[in-house]
Amino acid sequence: MVAASGLRSTPRPKTVIFSNSKGGVGKSTLALLMSLGLATRHQDASVKLIDLDPQATSSESLKRFCDRRFSVVNDSGLNLDDGAPNNEKIIQLIDAERNNKFKKRFVVVDSPAGTQPHRSAFLFQCDIMLIPTSVSDADIFATKKYLAGLHALFSQHEYRHTFAPPALIVLPNLVDSRDEFNELRHALAREQVYLGKPLYYSPAFRRAFREQRNDENIRIIFNQAQPYTLWLTSLLTQSHRLEKRPKKLFQL
Ligand SMILES: Nc1ncnc2c1ncn2[C@@H]1O[C@H](COP(=O)(O)OP(=O)(O)O)[C@@H](O)[C@H]1O
Ligand SMILES: [Mg+2]
Repeated sequence: MVAASGLRSTPRPKTVIFSNSKGGVGKSTLALLMSLGLATRHQDASVKLIDLDPQATSSESLKRFCDRRFSVVNDSGLNLDDGAPNNEKIIQLIDAERNNKFKKRFVVVDSPAGTQPHRSAFLFQCDIMLIPTSVSDADIFATKKYLAGLHALFSQHEYRHTFAPPALIVLPNLVDSRDEFNELRHALAREQVYLGKPLYYSPAFRRAFREQRNDENIRIIFNQAQPYTLWLTSLLTQSHRLEKRPKKLFQL
């Protein structure tokens, strides 16, 4: 099944996966910004958000925007009984997007905390992986460990010759100051990944998932984070520009 997906003529949709073993680092917030950013910026494109988190943070918040271009999936079949991702089902879902009629197709995957790379073969099906982290020691430690797990997964022989691994980009989030960002950069200096632009702490983000009839909270966040969202969506649309694995930390 996995190998067959590479053989068809329609290209795979441009796919981004937000992931980190750590919770509370901004995966769902950034998946929300990415999904709405892509849908607003590319009016000729379809956007599908696949929310793998049983807590359904991003999908609950985004389902009110669903229309013929924008769809949200969150169901219990996406995870196995022991909590690991149902790789086959996720790959099928991404693959099924080939059949839709839109000129451009985007898939955004939001993952729960605690996922283990070695049980996540579906990670091979994306163009880029975005890995948010805060600057706290605990988050940096967990992120480094998670990156080591990803490198181990992507160097596995059985897949390496069939799929190009995605570009890995760490996204500094909840950052307080430029000094803090530099601290993170130092801490990750030896990692063979890309380092994204910092997203600073802003109280408006705390209200990102609040449901409101007029969506005022989303509008405020979007106005405030406009340059960042533009940059974030370009990462996906221009993903072919990212050489797959930098030799050392490469700041974007
Ligand atoms: N840049 C930010 N500034 C302020 N709060 C943020 C920011 N990014 C995320 N948050 C808040 O932090 C909490 C965790 O974010 P969330 O996206 O749910 O993380 P995850 O999906 O990784 O568990 C949420 O309450 C969210 O609103
Ligand atoms: Mg989340």
